[in-house]
Amino acid sequence: MSTQSVCEKCGGTGWIIVERSSVSGAERCACLSVGRAERLEERSQIPPLYRNASFENFKTEGVQELKSVMSAVKSYADEFPLGPYPGLLLIGEPGTGKTHLAVAALRRIMQKGFEGVFTDFQTLLDRIRAGYDSTSNSSNKEAYRMALDSEVLLLDDLGAHRVTDWVQDTVTSIVTHRCNNRKPLIATTNLPDADAGSSTFQKTAVGPEYRRTLRDHVGDRARSRLFEMCKVIRINWSEDYRIRRGKRF
Ligand SMILES: Nc1ncnc2c1ncn2[C@@H]1O[C@H](COP(=O)(O)OP(=O)(O)O)[C@@H](O)[C@H]1O
Ligand SMILES: [Mg+2]
Ligand SMILES: [Zn+2]
Repeated sequence: MSTQSVCEKCGGTGWIIVERSSVSGAERCACLSVGRAERLEERSQIPPLYRNASFENFKTEGVQELKSVMSAVKSYADEFPLGPYPGLLLIGEPGTGKTHLAVAALRRIMQKGFEGVFTDFQTLLDRIRAGYDSTSNSSNKEAYRMALDSEVLLLDDLGAHRVTDWVQDTVTSIVTHRCNNRKPLIATTNLPDADAGSSTFQKTAVGPEYRRTLRDHVGDRARSRLFEMCKVIRINWSEDYRIRRGKRF
């Protein structure tokens, strides 16, 4: 619970009366921007596991690939919103730190006063689907609007459990709407993409096996919009941090 004291200047109204050459008018009080970054973080829906994720606590341990990925993500966040791309797409194997880095970028962007919202892709789909049901709660109904209109959206783990036309249409409309309105989108995915340099085959005991790609999951249109609006960074690293960390003990 917040125990914030009421601002002495504006009495908590957010407005102060100023007199200029005997004309008085109302101005926004400076207290409105105090604590804004903290309030934005509280509303961002970043899951507890990632709430403290930052560039400072991302360990590169001398691995050149991780160093250069981190510095590319960091420069995206530092340049925001003036960089060449409004969005960021992180591609890589599970456990390589994509969500950690995406949240670190989102938090840095929120520090600048932008509103950021974290949402897991599958959860978003489930909530949008539930929102169609008239008995569903209003937060599910708002999920779609939030995905379209929040200032900066972090769409984590692109790629659905079951790919259907509805899934592809939904992701296409979210990405297209955001792209058309130049609303930044930060996305992560484990799905390979040949244009980002991923191999779309994996070795198995019975020979090479095709891996389903980003295009297979989200469809051609959403994929091409993503590439158009995002700085695409592939993490060319296959060690799962959770396993790597475990090995040291
Ligand atoms: N290089 C790293 N330094 C510190 N923590 C890391 C690093 N890479 C991953 N982690 C942590 O390991 C866990 C899994 O990483 P995550 O970002 O979820 O991977 P991905 O999204 O690529 O599957 C998270 O708790 C994350 O904070
Ligand atoms: Mg992840
Ligand atoms: Zn005030």
